[in-house]
Amino acid sequence: MTPPTDQYDEMAAEYAEHSAAGLANAHYDRPAILALAGDLTGLRVLDAGCAAGHLARLLAEGGAASVTGIDISAAMVALARERCPAGTFHRADLAAPLDLFEDGAFDLVTASLVLHYLAD
Ligand SMILES: C[S@@+](CC[C@H](N)C(=O)[O-])C[C@H]1O[C@@H](n2cnc3c(N)ncnc32)[C@H](O)[C@@H]1O
Repeated sequence: MTPPTDQYDEMAAEYAEHSAAGLANAHYDRPAILALAGDLTGLRVLDAGCAAGHLARLLAEGGAASVTGIDISAAMVALARERCPAGTFHRADLAAPLDLFEDGAFDLVTASLVLHYLAD
């Protein structure tokens, strides 16, 4: 289920701090996602539901040609831009068509801890 837009806006700073070093995020989730992603060299990566940009930054540092992040929370998008200056971030709803991107714009899509918000 999609949360109200401002749910993560209100907790953005707290989530960003928790996610930076929290056990589940920093030590299980992100390492698992990066292992699944494999060699990022030269890939155009979309991080769907990027939150505060922790994973986006690692993707960029891992050699991706470009990293684009989208999140429904404007506050998260602002934090992601600060954390990952190499990335490009947009406020967008994954429950709606992502018309802002051309078909074939990405080689890899990550969506970590996000899909449970989406009915479809
Ligand atoms: C649990 S956090 C996970 C964030 C990040 N991927 C991570 O692994 O730390 C869920 C994120 O999904 C975003 N989100 C939830 N529903 C969304 C939607 N419909 N479209 C875009 N982002 C959404 C929230 O704003 C929040 O930043």
